[in-house]
Amino acid sequence: MTFTLEVLPADRWAEAVAGDLVARLRAEPGLRLCLPTGETPAPLYECLRRSDPDVWSRSTVILLDEYLGLPPDDPAVAGPRLRRELIEDVRPATYIDIDTVNADHAASARDLDVAAAAGIDLALLGLGVNGHIGLNEPGSTADAGTRVVTLHPRSREVATERYGAAHGPKRGITLGVARLLEAREIWLLVTGERKADVLRRTLEGPETAELPASFLRRHPNCRVLADEPAAALLRAA
Ligand code: F6R
Repeated sequence: MTFTLEVLPADRWAEAVAGDLVARLRAEPGLRLCLPTGETPAPLYECLRRSDPDVWSRSTVILLDEYLGLPPDDPAVAGPRLRRELIEDVRPATYIDIDTVNADHAASARDLDVAAAAGIDLALLGLGVNGHIGLNEPGSTADAGTRVVTLHPRSREVATERYGAAHGPKRGITLGVARLLEAREIWLLVTGERKADVLRRTLEGPETAELPASFLRRHPNCRVLADEPAAALLRAA
């Protein structure tokens, strides 16, 4: 196992991760980042919005995943959400989101994959309570490609109950596990007590397609950045 586990107090987590990310951008201004949306990164993005926009001016941000079948102004739609929560303030040189207007969703997935295949230096990922990364739902294998996916029932509920979607989206587009494992570095972001059990299974249980996040243990350079409540059930913590 090659991941490193860093456990931070909940009230300092966002600021600490933001500080690390800004330092990385200063050291590597042309950084190509892959970013998620959701509740975990929201406080991180709030800190990053106050960062010096100069550090972002040569960076590229690639959106990790997107829902299909929601109206473009739905609050859960990821592309505009990331734009509101981060992109508009930090203004990276390039922001690559996922085309949901094109009716050919497979073509949108291919475009996303081409952008990611050009290289991801650092992928930030959240962890689903069902063990997904991006929208690589349970059942996704380590060689899963970037594609149109059918959402797991729990992911549909999260979209309505936590992200305010008008209805539970049935499908989405996600970077595949295989493409994510090609990133030079991965930071798995995990906060809150409700993630404690899935984080324990991700790091200490069997590596399995039933919990796609467990494949991150194959990555040579994966940092797990957890807060104390999320790490509460880990032996290592
Ligand atoms: C969102 C994404 C998802 C979330 C995960 C955790 O772009 O890729 O995998 O990261 O579902 O969601 P939160 O952070 O809302 O608990």
